[in-house]
Amino acid sequence: MADLKDRVEGLRKAFEAEALKVGDAKSLEELRTAFLGRKKGHVTLLFEDLKTVPAEGKREAGRLINELKESVTVRLDAIEGQLSLAWPSVSGTSAEAKLDLTLPGRKKYVGAAHPLVLFQQEIENVFLGMGFTIEEGPEIETDYYNFEALNFPPHHPARDSWDTLYIKDDLLLRTHTSPVQIRVMEKKKPPIRIIIPGRVFRRETPDPTHLPMFMQIEGLVVDEGATFAHLKGTLEYFIRALFGEKIKVRFRPSFFPFTEPSAEVDIECIVCGGQDKSCRVCSGTGWKEILGSGMVDPQVLKNVNIDPEKYSGWAFGLGIDRTAMFAYGITEMRHFYENDLRFIRQFGAK
Ligand code: PHE
Repeated sequence: MADLKDRVEGLRKAFEAEALKVGDAKSLEELRTAFLGRKKGHVTLLFEDLKTVPAEGKREAGRLINELKESVTVRLDAIEGQLSLAWPSVSGTSAEAKLDLTLPGRKKYVGAAHPLVLFQQEIENVFLGMGFTIEEGPEIETDYYNFEALNFPPHHPARDSWDTLYIKDDLLLRTHTSPVQIRVMEKKKPPIRIIIPGRVFRRETPDPTHLPMFMQIEGLVVDEGATFAHLKGTLEYFIRALFGEKIKVRFRPSFFPFTEPSAEVDIECIVCGGQDKSCRVCSGTGWKEILGSGMVDPQVLKNVNIDPEKYSGWAFGLGIDRTAMFAYGITEMRHFYENDLRFIRQFGAK
């Protein structure tokens, strides 16, 4: 009996010594077989020897052997658990199992702002720097805000169902960001100096330069003594901040029901510089229209109870998508909305 006790202790120590050396799944299995193997395992053989132990000592001896078996099993399982958590190659000993620190890491892609959002922020920053603040308004509008308050005559073609997506008779998806001018002027008294970014909707068949949904940024200034010179100076400053000092800008007379006088602003084609008659960006004209603008029509001020004798205002509306296309030399607007990561990852944060 004393003899068996010594052997159990001896095996326990031998196992511990071996267990410390285990470094991979293979040596772990070898150790398991050496101690618990069904025919020749050291612990298994102890059970054989139990048969020769005299009856009075059998119980105690059996307990000792079972204890050993149990602790060996627990320890082997624990090592197995550790191995599966560990880097497979760190503890390996063969040459190819060594950790190769020169391998590139696994790249984790985190979310990043969409190119249009980045471009919108660039625009916003120029105006924030000039003391403008940002306002927003609803994408679903009433006829009053989208058209009537903006001085559209009842049968103006822009109300035509061809351009406007109606939800119900009096409910529509806004066709421009200008209705937010009205909403803000109803609530705030001059001086007003705001920009309004947002989505707008029109009944368009998608093609490389038209989509039924796109982005605009509106600007509105209302104050005593606001003039067309302020409009011109501010927009020129903005365009140079975005496209560089040297860019050529031109103001072209135009018409909007809610501004008088009105002007559209073109910038020189930075893709072909006016040199390519078949340029896909400017259609060979050398110019690209990016925004509509004008002095707020006195009737519009009256509609929101601002005295046009005391105050004047100017406004503009710029297409974010088309300006971004121009800035980046993109000839297909749909790229912005298809969310192909190969396209999107070319801008800003990766
Ligand atoms: N709302 C006009 C458009 O969508 C642009 C514009 C805004 C023109 C403000 C003048 C003043 O075309």
